[in-house]
Formats: sequence, C-alpha cells, structure tokens
Amino acid sequence: MKRKNKLSILQMAEMKRCGEKITWITAYDMPLACAAEKAGVDMILVGDSGGMVQLGYQTTNPVTMDEMILMAKSAKRGAPDTFLVGDMPQGSYEASNVLAVENALRFVKEAGCDAVKLEGGKRMVPRVKAIYDAGILVMGHIGLTPQSSAAFGGYRIQGKSVESFEANMEDALALQASGACAILVEAIPEEVSAVFARKLSIPILGIGAGKQVDGQLLIVHDVLGLYPSFRPTFAKCYIPLVIEQFSKHLGKSSDLTKLGRDTREDGISYLAELAITRYVEEVKELKYPSTEYRYPLSADILEMLKKSKYWNR
Ligand code: KIV
Repeated sequence: MKRKNKLSILQMAEMKRCGEKITWITAYDMPLACAAEKAGVDMILVGDSGGMVQLGYQTTNPVTMDEMILMAKSAKRGAPDTFLVGDMPQGSYEASNVLAVENALRFVKEAGCDAVKLEGGKRMVPRVKAIYDAGILVMGHIGLTPQSSAAFGGYRIQGKSVESFEANMEDALALQASGACAILVEAIPEEVSAVFARKLSIPILGIGAGKQVDGQLLIVHDVLGLYPSFRPTFAKCYIPLVIEQFSKHLGKSSDLTKLGRDTREDGISYLAELAITRYVEEVKELKYPSTEYRYPLSADILEMLKKSKYWNR
C-alpha cells in the first residue's frame, strides 16, 4: 500500500532508532517506478545498474550522466511521491568537487531527485563534503563498489578479512563525518554489516549484506525476474510467490475482457506491484533476506574479525 507521505531523513533516522526496516528498490522508468510507489516502498534508487539491466551494457561503467538523467526523469514521473535517489555514474564525480556538485545538482534540478549516491569511502570525503555543503542529501556506498571493482580484483565479497573489515569501517566513519545521510553496504557478510549498523548513527542500508542492517535494497529486475543473465546470491525473484494471488485475482472476474476496462489490474504492472509489495512485507517482517540470500562467513574468520579494534568499541 502506498506510503502516506514521502520519506524524510528525519523519518529515516527515526526508523533506524526504533528498528523499522527501510525498504528500497531500484527503478529506471515510469511503469516500474509507478508499481514500486503503489507497493509502498520507502525509497527508489535510479541506480547505474540501469546501464546493465535497462540499457543492456555489459557493466555499469559506460552509462552516462545524460542516460542517468533520462532514466531518473522517467522514474520520477512514475513515482512523484516517493523519495528518489540518483546514482552518480562513473565519470560524473571523481575528477573534482565542482564536477561532483554540478552533476548532483542535475539529479536534483532536472530529474527531481531527493538525494544522490556515490561509490567510495575515505577517498570520496571531499566530494561528499562538497555535495553536502551545496545543500544536497548524499549517500555513500561501500563494500563491493562495482564502478571500481577492477581495483579490488573484480566483483568480490568484501569484509571477510581484518584488513577489509577495518578499511570498510574507516570508510563508513569517514563518510558519516563528512555529511553522508546514509550508507549502502554491498556484498558483505551479515555478521560484519551488523557491526556497521550498530556503530554508525546514520542508517546503514544493505544489498547482499544480510538482515541486521537498517534497510534493504534490491534491483527491481531481480525482484521481477526481468534480467536474463547474471543473478547474484542475494537476488530474490518474487514472481513465483505472487503468481497464485494474481491468478486468483483474475479468476474473480467472470468476464476477463472487462478486467482491464474497469481497472488496470489485469497485467504486468499489477503483477509487478504484487511482487514488490511482497518484497516490502518480507523486509518489514524480517523475512528477507533469509539464509540462502546471504553470504556465509566461516567461524574461523569470524573469530579473527572479533579481535579487530573496531569490533566492540
Ligand atoms: O546501481 C545500483 O543499482 C547500485 C546497487 C547495485 C547497489 O548501486
């Protein structure tokens, strides 16, 4: 069910404080953003993943700022009342603070985004500060950061060694101190991301980071089974879970030709709404992500991590 009002950062902080999970999904166009808003998600991300799942590039790196703006404008038209985050693509912020602020402003002014997100930790502190100083809400993204994954040897699970855990923790603390309003952690075992959520005062959202964070993000194409190739461990397709509900709904009508005339609840957009609604419910009820959608951590590595200076302090 649609949210009563658009999420604010004050509400986001309150949700963290009282333990209500924040629900977040990507969308890159009007129809799926509309389905996400009707399903009542707290936030929508126009991710640079749209470069792959929507535009068909092999990685997220080729997607341009103009393509991101086009996708963000379309998503905004579908979900005018949902908190919308624009994802800064590779090349739109690394070179200078001026470039970062100019492109963050494009997301806000041209596409109507409420916040932007960028990848990287300590090394992005000047950019985060500059965007924050320009009066724009900015979120960090650590753990697996696809834009710079080559530097980490490819798409690899992060936080599984003391070195990686401590580097990510220092990144998170630096982003928080620079004005980030939330941080997304990607592909990190649950035991590790739980420490981030506990230590940081801003919301820690996870994708492939287990349950013990302040909210979840999924790619809408994974939720709907729309992307024909790669599907990561944490991706859950909700269509099999709602198909019977959809079929019963259709079955209620004695004249199927009337269904699409009286309402629009007869096709893919309604099925998408049901699937995203189920995702939202599972996150709120702490059912997603169950064990099979998490990255495991061995007992030996966990013992090693527990000795880190950041684990308990
Ligand atoms: O672009 C995106 O959707 C993202 C997620 C993969 C984390 O940044």
